[in-house]
Order: sequence, then structure tokens, then C-alpha cells
Amino acid sequence: MTHQKERWGSRIGLILAMAGNAVGLGNFLRFPAQAVQNGGGAFIIPYLVSFIFMGIPLLWIEWAIGRNGGRFGHHSGPGMMDKLGNHKWLKYTGVFGIFSNLTIAAYYCYLESWTLGYVWHSIAGTFNGMDSAQVGNYFLLYVGADGNPLFNISGQAISFFIITFCLNLWILSRGLSRGIETASKIGMPLLVIFGIFLAIRALTLSSGELNAINDAAAGLNFLWQPRFESLADPKVWLAAAGQIFFTLSVGMGCIHCYAAYLHEKDDIALNAVSAGFTNEFVEVILGGSIIIPIGVAYLGLDEVQRIVGLSMGFQTMPILFQNWGPVLAALAGLAWFGLLFFAGITSSLAMGQPIIAFLQDEYKLTRQKSVRYFGAMLLVLTIPCIIFFSHGSFSEFDDWSGTFSLVVFALFESLAFAWIFGMNKGWDEITRGADIKVPAFYKFVIRYITPLFLISVFLGSLISPLGGKWKHAFEQLFAGEGWPLDPGSIIGKLFKLGIEDTRYFIDGVPTSVFIIDMTRLLLVITFIAIAAMVWYAWKRHNSASERQKEISL
Ligand code: PHE
Repeated sequence: MTHQKERWGSRIGLILAMAGNAVGLGNFLRFPAQAVQNGGGAFIIPYLVSFIFMGIPLLWIEWAIGRNGGRFGHHSGPGMMDKLGNHKWLKYTGVFGIFSNLTIAAYYCYLESWTLGYVWHSIAGTFNGMDSAQVGNYFLLYVGADGNPLFNISGQAISFFIITFCLNLWILSRGLSRGIETASKIGMPLLVIFGIFLAIRALTLSSGELNAINDAAAGLNFLWQPRFESLADPKVWLAAAGQIFFTLSVGMGCIHCYAAYLHEKDDIALNAVSAGFTNEFVEVILGGSIIIPIGVAYLGLDEVQRIVGLSMGFQTMPILFQNWGPVLAALAGLAWFGLLFFAGITSSLAMGQPIIAFLQDEYKLTRQKSVRYFGAMLLVLTIPCIIFFSHGSFSEFDDWSGTFSLVVFALFESLAFAWIFGMNKGWDEITRGADIKVPAFYKFVIRYITPLFLISVFLGSLISPLGGKWKHAFEQLFAGEGWPLDPGSIIGKLFKLGIEDTRYFIDGVPTSVFIIDMTRLLLVITFIAIAAMVWYAWKRHNSASERQKEISL
């Protein structure tokens, strides 16, 4: 079955789009946070090992599943998982490939809109002359203050969200090559230029210069001094593997989708590695050379460890830039938030495309209609996420969609690829048209190591012990005192460990427990609704092909 369908305009366009998909807010905010909180040099080794034994194999698996699905006219999870074997249930594993993209987009687009807001404020000089408390408080306009009233997001934040939301839909409506590819060709080079500018400024900061109290190199040393003992710490491994997932955008279904627009004989082996390494360069080299060294230069390591992440990116960086004088501060603000914005938008486009492709392929809707439906679904999910942001809705989305479901889908797809589709066929698929020789030992890695790696990550997050202290937990277990579950482990979260007061309302006001449960309910309903859409689409395909058969008889 051949389809008249959209294709990428050029190879460089495809690689930039794939790299843009992977390079996101995760590279500049999540990576430094994970690295610093997991011991710097202690984190990097498990991180690189996870990249080689889990990241790269998953990239190849996903590109291969995608290009194979595209051959049959399927550009989203359910259809392409269905084509891996003759089991009716396989297509339902692909529901994850729609679910994760939709629900991650629901909070990611909101984050992305903050970066746009902050680009504006950097140019307008809003933060000039503010003290650190004022800059910190400014952020509350975007996230809402803790506590009641529930709805406390500013009109400003909502306006920037609407602009970001419409921009995403507009680019998506222009199509693969004219929309996504063009946006990546503009956004990616600018992002790298902004990143290099900031990294050079950061790394040349020395103590005493421009009010810095430490050499920026102290931050780099912390990140790059290898600490081999961490290899024995499952907590660091879990964090490292989780970061590899998020940053490479694997386990989500969006890489598959982009790869489905390739020709059957186009290279995937080299393309996948090129996009993957571009992401790693941007993450480890650029992402590792901005927020950490600047933070350490001005605040010292302990403080950076405490605040690194979202809050440091938005609440602290603008004030640190002020040390560089008004002109450089404005430029640095523009570069920092501009870089985050381009990183964000090229990722959110990648989250939209699989859903649009699903509606186009399986429901035969036009692109314009699919974009509108996608927009409507996204709004339904984003609104609660924004309104209840400071009440835990956001982290629920991130935990279940941005962390847990990625591992589950990756596990399904790697097992289905190696064991149902079959490793020999799979290897042919990866190496067909390849412009590099894929090392033969990866056949073994994909068949055994990657699934085992994924199973360990899955089990590890299910039963993480209190405080991530695995050694202590095993000692306790062998002493017959049971397993001390962490409230942050999957089981701990499901059973609300550590939450004493589980009331839904106090004095008529809904509590965080209520908001969290409602968010979970929303996520479950979303999952079931997508599964039902898959079921109905296949029912329609089947009856259409029955009719076709009858006609030809
Ligand atoms: N990889 C992106 C990042 O690092 C996140 C992302 C998630 C992108 C889902 C696409 C799909 O921020």
C-alpha cells in the first residue's frame, strides 16, 4: 500500500528537526539539576553508560519502527506497533505513544510560554534594578503563589501562553517540511549560537571579576571529576537513565513519527546517531557550561545544589546577569531565554505531530482539522495544569507522563522489536540503507541488554527505597524489618505514603490531595479515551476492508 504523503525536504532538515525534538528544556534545566543533585561527576558515568546501552539502541529501535510503520501509511504509535506482529493487542501498546506526547505537551507548552515571556522581559529591561527577591517574586505571576486561592495565575502569563499555543498550532498547520523543518532550521542554529555565547561568558568568569565570588571552573570541576563509587548506587543510575529518556525523547513515540516520513531505503543508522550526538553535545557541553558554572561563580556550590532547576533558571539567572552591566545583562537574558524558547518549541512541535498524524492516518482527517482537534485536546489538559499548577498538578503530569510512561512504552517497544518482530528482521530494518556500519554487538545489546536495563529501571522506580538508600534498605530487608518504600517511588505515590491527612476538602476548600487525585483521574481518562479511539479506528478499518473484500468477490 503506497500513500501520497508528506516527506522531509532534506537530510539536514530531518536531522535538525530530530535534534530539535530531542534538544529541549530538559537539556538546559533538567540535566544540570539532575547532575548537580546526584553528585556531579558521580552522575556523568552512569549517564554516559545509559546513553550507550539504552539511549542509542532505543534510538535505532524507534527510527526502525517508525520507518517501517511509515511504509504502511502509519505515522503514529498504534499503527506502527500493530505492524510489528500479528497480535491485536500490539496496537494498544502504541496508545502510550499518543498519550505521552499529548500529556507532556500539556505542561511543556506552558513552560515554553514562560521562556517567551522572559525573552520579552529581557528585551524590555523589566528586571533592571530589581533586587533578587523582586525577581524571584516576579515568577509567581507565572506559577501562582503557593496556597489559596486556587486560581492565581496572572493575565500576563496567560497571554504568553496563548501566543505560544497559537504559534505551535500555526507551525504544525503548515506541515512537516514547510512548518516543522523550517522552524528547526531557524531555531537550532540560533540556539547553538546563543548557547556558545553564554558558555564562553560563563567559563571565563573568575573570582573577583564582575562580582563573582568563585571561579566558574569550580562548577565545571564538580561536574567533570569522575567519582566511580557512584556506579554502585542505584539511585544515581535511576536518575541518569531517567534523564537519558527525557532528553533523547525516547519512549514517547515522537521519534517514530518523524522517522515514518522517510523513504523505505533512506539511512536511519547514521541519522539516528547524528541526531542523538547533537543532543548530547548540546546537553553535556552547552547545557553543562551555563547554569552550573555561572551559579557556582556567584552563589557557591551548596546554594546551586539547593535551587538548581526551574526556579534557578527563571528566578535566579536574571539577577545574576545583572552583574554584567545593563547591555550584557539584556543580551544574556535574551540569549538564555531565547535559547530555552527555541529548545522548547522544536520539542513541542515534535509532541504535536504524532497526534496530528494519528488523526490524519486513522481517521482520515485533513491536516487542518487534525491540528484543530489536537489544539482542543491540548487545551482540555493544559487548563487544569495551569490553574492548579502550584497545587501539584504539574508534577503529577511530569511524574506519570514525563517519567513513568516513557519507561513502560520503551520496555514494550524494545521487547516487541527484538522478540515479536524478531531480531533478524529488526537488524535488517536498522541496517537497510545504512550509511555507517552498525557495530554487530548492538544486535546482542538490543536483544538482551537494553530490555534488561529497562526492566531494572522500571522495577527500581517501582520500589525505590526511602531516601534512595538502597544499601540500607537491603540491610533492613534481610534483618526481617521489611522494605522501607520511598514516598516518591511509584508504589509509594500510588498509596500516598507519607501523606497523613488525606482529606479532599478542608473548610470547603479543596486540598492538594484532591487536586492530585483529580489530576490522576484526568490522566487515566485520557489514556482510556485514546485507547477507545484506537479501538474504533481499527473497527472502521476492518469493516472497510471487509467491504472491499466483498466488492472484489
Ligand atoms: N527531549 C525534550 C527535552 O529535553 C523533551 C521532549 C519530550 C521532547 C517529549 C519531545 C517529546 O526537553
